[in-house]
Amino acid sequence: MSFQRTNIATMAGYVPGEQVNSADFIKLNTNENPYPPSPAVAAALKEIDSAFLRLYPSPTAEPFREVAAQCHGIDVDNIVPTNGGDELLRLVLTTFAAPGETVAVTRPTYSLYRVLAEIQANPLREIALEDTWDLPKNFVQQLSDTGAKICILVNPHAPTGKLLSVTTLTEIAANFDGLLLIDEAYVDFVDPAREHDAVPLAIERENVLLLRTLSKGYSLAGLRFGYGIGSAELVHPILYKTRDSYNTDYIAQQLAVAAIQSRNYAENNWEKIRQAREELADALRKLGFSITPSQTNFLLATIPDGHSAERLYQQLKSENILVRFFAQERLQDKLRISVGTPAENASLLAALTRRFT
Ligand SMILES: Cc1ncc(COP(=O)(O)O)c(C=O)c1O
Repeated sequence: MSFQRTNIATMAGYVPGEQVNSADFIKLNTNENPYPPSPAVAAALKEIDSAFLRLYPSPTAEPFREVAAQCHGIDVDNIVPTNGGDELLRLVLTTFAAPGETVAVTRPTYSLYRVLAEIQANPLREIALEDTWDLPKNFVQQLSDTGAKICILVNPHAPTGKLLSVTTLTEIAANFDGLLLIDEAYVDFVDPAREHDAVPLAIERENVLLLRTLSKGYSLAGLRFGYGIGSAELVHPILYKTRDSYNTDYIAQQLAVAAIQSRNYAENNWEKIRQAREELADALRKLGFSITPSQTNFLLATIPDGHSAERLYQQLKSENILVRFFAQERLQDKLRISVGTPAENASLLAALTRRFT
């Protein structure tokens, strides 16, 4: 006899990208930042006095809220810190969608959305992207037809790297009766020339919440720290009602503060990654891959005709290079490749050059 709720018994869990212990691997499969966290984070870690671990941390991570609010030029009431961005996703569903209410996403998208909807017994409605990976022209109408309580859009998009403009997001939010959660896990890597900034939209509109994470831009995937940005009407119920009593720990809070305070260091890495992204895309195109222009720290690469993406993934793995293969509709002929350091990218290209020239 199973004690699981029926929806848990019948669902499949989230399948994360492989994590390997060996430093021998070139890891381009889970969109981690190839550079170490800021020296200020390393210094803050060294300074942590274990005596403080006897005490509970600030329940709402107040020191972090203050530096994050300052960083974005908004009020602390607009910030809710979470245990990674993934916890915010779960909290948004818990707080704003009752079991049975619909959640809308695009197809493809970040696969965790489906898992979280299934855990909470929220029907998931997927709106297919065009062949170009753009939203369909009638997206607003399709979204409205779903009757969804929450729509989750990842922007820039995963796994394609495409960016929706603030104008498009504003139009969607203005015509949607539900809550629009914009997952900005990769927004730090957007070219500054685009002048993309959805923060004012989230502050002004009561139905828009942004997800941010320190995992990617700040090289802190192992720390588990993210946050939401939105109006107090959206932030407060999460902050004061639905999150775990102490959802972020003392050490994580200290290091997250140090990371935001030393943002210049991270910004410098974002620029290096952007440059490497364009160089890697060009080099892959020369080898016959087709690459979707990306505003993230990864590339979606279509394998040259006559080759198998899955086999190439296996071959690279046998050479200790990990990339991501999705056995999924429309992605089966593609690999998602995280942008590494110049040396890591060169090793990948050397391995591919041996096969494709
Ligand atoms: C689209 C997207 N959203 C959110 C996250 C959550 O990241 P984290 O929980 O590490 O903050 C990820 C991580 O891979 C992601 O790809």
